[in-house]
Formats: sequence, structure tokens, C-alpha cells
Amino acid sequence: MVKNINSFPDPSILYTFDEVYPPSDDTYLIIDYFKKEINENFFDGLPINSIKKILDMGTGTGIIALFFQEIKKYLSNFTSKIYASDISDAAIRCATLNEKTINYKNNINFIKSDLFRKFPPNLQQSFDIIVFNPPYLPSISDKENNIIRRRSDSNWDGGERGFEVFLEFLRQVKDFLNSEQKYYIYYISSSSTDLSELNEELEILGFQNSVLNKRHIFFEDIILNRLEEL
Ligand SMILES: C[S@@+](CC[C@H](N)C(=O)[O-])C[C@H]1O[C@@H](n2cnc3c(N)ncnc32)[C@H](O)[C@@H]1O
Repeated sequence: MVKNINSFPDPSILYTFDEVYPPSDDTYLIIDYFKKEINENFFDGLPINSIKKILDMGTGTGIIALFFQEIKKYLSNFTSKIYASDISDAAIRCATLNEKTINYKNNINFIKSDLFRKFPPNLQQSFDIIVFNPPYLPSISDKENNIIRRRSDSNWDGGERGFEVFLEFLRQVKDFLNSEQKYYIYYISSSSTDLSELNEELEILGFQNSVLNKRHIFFEDIILNRLEEL
């Protein structure tokens, strides 16, 4: 019988620091999808034993990386190395502490970096799966149209149109994907941005987008998407 992780509990996150993004609806939209689509044999349709490296970009509390680390205990064919990165020192400290608390003996590889800028060259061409729940809302401007930005805003401020940070990620990501086999990038977008404009940019960059799930929260739909090579 194929072992399914649908009933698997969410990782327990004991630490959330003030300026670190707490696990939220968008986080669980991602985790709940993987709970349905990962089993002993397949990772969302890809052979699970072909997945050697996974990156959780913008890890925050570390919850998504910890989720992958946790399910390795239950699925013997899932042996992927897990990487987690963030631009924020506080997020890296928080995620490291959460990993220690669950006692994974430092198995997650943490990298403090603005997107891929500080990634070591030996990680180029290596990731089979990348997850990025990016800052995805448009920046706020004052009356004179100057963009207002504080340090903790990197949790949600995706730039003027809401997807500048994500587009910069996509420009850099191609060097770090394992192009020897099929790869997937999972990300969250929001209906409070111009999604048709984002889709045009994705096509120009050579990606095919699939919408996997949506949730309506307050004033917007948050959308879980998956990118693959066009
Ligand atoms: C919406 S939060 C997601 C946090 C966590 N992955 C989750 O789903 O709960 C966005 C995260 O991206 C990080 N981030 C923002 N800009 C970044 C950049 N340029 N490079 C790396 N991480 C970035 C933020 O610090 C924050 O932790």
C-alpha cells in the first residue's frame, strides 16, 4: 500500500520572532498541497527518489523546510537534502532555533542571502524543487508617491507592482535549477497584483505556470502556483 502523508501533523514551530513572518494562510496553502501530493513513490508526480535537493527560499520561521525534513522520517524513498535561505538574519536565527527544538541535529542547510547572491557555486544546477512564498504585495507610497519601506516589510513588500522581488528571483533561479531532469518551482501570488502582467513576464522568462489552489482571505485571493520549463 502506498504510504500517504495526508494525515501528517504540521511541524510544531515553537519560535516566532517579532519581525519574522509567522506561519499564515499562504504557508498552509503550500503545506496542505504537499500533504496531498507527496507519497512514498511520487513528489507531485515526479519519482520521489529523483528529488535530491529542495530549497525553501524566504524560509521565515523555517516551517516549510521543517515540514520536508519531517516527512523524510516517514517515507523511506524520500532522501532529499533540504536547504533554507532568507535575507533576514532574524529569520535564519528563528528557523535554526526551530530546527534545534525539534532536534533534527542540524540537517537543514541554512543560507543567509538576498535571493541567490550568497549561494556557493557548488549549488549551481542542483535544485530539483524550489519553494518560494515571496513578499507578494505592492509597496505602499506616501502622499508624494515616495515608497515607504521598513526593515520588516521584506515579509510582504514585493516591490512597486508586488512582484519585482519574485521576478528578480526568477532571473537568478535558472543557474540553480537541475536542468538534467524536470524541476518545479512553487510560489504564492496575490489577486491584489496585476496577474496578467505577471503571467506575461513568466512567459518571457520561459516558464509555464499552473494554478494549483486558491484561498480567499479578507481582501484578496492568495494563489498557489507551480512553474516548469516552457
Ligand atoms: C511571506 S514570508 C514567507 C515565510 C515562510 N516561507 C512562510 O511561508 O511562512 C516571505 C519571506 O521572504 C523573505 N525574503 C524577502 N525578500 C527576500 C530576498 N530578497 N531574499 C531572500 N528572502 C527574502 C522574508 O524575509 C520572509 O521571511
